[in-house]
Amino acid sequence: HEAGSVLECQPLLFRMSTFRKLLSQRLQAAFAAANITLPEGAVIDVTNASDSRFGDYQSNAAMTVAKLLKTNPRQLATTIADTFDGTGLCQKPEVAGPGFLNFRLTNETLASTLNAHVADAHLGVPRAEQAKTIVVDFSAPNVAKPMHVGHIRSTFIGDSLARLARYVGHHVITDNHIGDWGTQFGMIIHGWKTRMDKEALKKDPIHELVRVYKDVNAEGKVNEAVREMCKTELVKLQQGDAENLEIWKECVKLTLDQLHDVYGKLDISFDHYLGESFYNDALGPLVEDMLAQKQAQVSEGAVCVFSDGTKKPEQDPFLIFKDGEWTALPLIIRKADGGFLYGTTDLATVDYRVNEWKAEEVWYVVGAPQQLHFRQLFDASRRRGHQTRMEHIAFGSILGPDGKMFKTRSGESVGLLEVIEEAVERAATVVAEREGFTDEEKSEVAEIIGIAAVKYAELSQHRMTDYKFSWDKMLSLQGNTAPYLINAYVRTRSIFRKLDGAVTLTDDVVLTEDAERALAMKLLQFGEAVHDVLEDFRPNLLAQYLYDLASAFHGFFEACPVLRSEGVTRNTRLVLCDATSRVLKEGLGLLGIKTTERM
Ligand code: ARG
Repeated sequence: HEAGSVLECQPLLFRMSTFRKLLSQRLQAAFAAANITLPEGAVIDVTNASDSRFGDYQSNAAMTVAKLLKTNPRQLATTIADTFDGTGLCQKPEVAGPGFLNFRLTNETLASTLNAHVADAHLGVPRAEQAKTIVVDFSAPNVAKPMHVGHIRSTFIGDSLARLARYVGHHVITDNHIGDWGTQFGMIIHGWKTRMDKEALKKDPIHELVRVYKDVNAEGKVNEAVREMCKTELVKLQQGDAENLEIWKECVKLTLDQLHDVYGKLDISFDHYLGESFYNDALGPLVEDMLAQKQAQVSEGAVCVFSDGTKKPEQDPFLIFKDGEWTALPLIIRKADGGFLYGTTDLATVDYRVNEWKAEEVWYVVGAPQQLHFRQLFDASRRRGHQTRMEHIAFGSILGPDGKMFKTRSGESVGLLEVIEEAVERAATVVAEREGFTDEEKSEVAEIIGIAAVKYAELSQHRMTDYKFSWDKMLSLQGNTAPYLINAYVRTRSIFRKLDGAVTLTDDVVLTEDAERALAMKLLQFGEAVHDVLEDFRPNLLAQYLYDLASAFHGFFEACPVLRSEGVTRNTRLVLCDATSRVLKEGLGLLGIKTTERM
């Protein structure tokens, strides 16, 4: 494939754009050509057609502009359709209904763009207009506390968003803000000294630490003396007692070692593991600084951030409506007893990321229950002068098949490790029936499919919905699942395996059949899907795109013989198969999902 020639003869179809963007540029030009000055607030938006029978793309721009100019929308749409220059891109737009404009790209455009995308290592996905330094804060489990579904969702969503942002050219820094400091260590240290099972700790440290934590926690609820002992251990730790510091360090190390294994299995990595404890020394000075700068004030012995009075009460994260009036809801950054809190650490973390890493954006992938925390954090950080864009990328929870809290086979807490193990085990029973695989290959495939199924079940959901966790559904070969998508990929690979290298693809591509065209169209929308995800931090849009692509491929594969065709048709179909293969692999990769050549 020679990209050069294609790009030269069609200068507008350069790789850094999408059809949506090109069409909207041409639309702007059409308004200008009709001597219409766009009124303020006019949005020239182009979207995917809601029904492919009417075209590939559509726009309601004429309607929104007509409304602002107080003219007839249908008439304006007709004028724009006339002045619209579709040369080298699409047919003359059609006016529909009250003033919609429908666009249908020409088959030549699709063919030449397909060639350009295939020649591009990035498969036509445009780079971000401006590369930014973005910190993605995700996963962040707590040492010696059970990992919950929130951490699982955060891990998969965060990893995928980081991959996507990197893919479009941002400088991404992933940071695992581990909860490695806090009151739980009073209980853990007390438990360590009184009831730790050394053997169990060696075997599965996280599990044993959590067991001890839960045990002490439960006992503390009914036994005041235990509570007191825990408090004493905590104070000793905070004051730098050597023995307790040693125990704390060991707990963190054991947990991190095991987490590394889990992340390794999941093919997830972090540039940094700057847990909460990393900021300990910064907390005192931070509070003093905030007091000096009047960003915080003393109230009943504690140091608090209050409303700055610049927002409407409904939008002010430091106010709450209680008993018929707006009451202060401060962010406490130092308790009356001198202790610091989660929010104090997060404020110090923002300072660090901005000052040391020059972060221009920080994305926090954390469950919806922490919404208030982040609103307060962002507001307080703004007051500290940080211009950084900060986003709380929230998500809902995961429910079990019964609609209640999600549990694994082994018990109450959902460990990420248990989930993966069970997924791989279940995938293995499916793969076990396959013929022509060695045992080693079988377990490799099971590992890929199992992990893929769990990740995809997560990432194909809108992040704000509470979704039901169903092993059967996620491992099914039918429907919007990882096995279905990987199977589509496997099919494309088997075609080329059959050819055994005995083919050279050329850019002699001519689209004739509807199914060929539909598949080409989908393939060319990869870049749009990638950018849609980043627009709203929603990996499920990419999942949906890949599912639609796989469906278009199945449709094509049924309607159009590939290996039995000849000449240009054969070349065209093989190019489509090759492109499908690459987009599926790349797209799944951006969700953090690996593919396998056979299954
Ligand atoms: N460890 C926290 C939790 O389990 C999540 C931390 C999220 N990141 C942050 N910078 N606050 O709830």
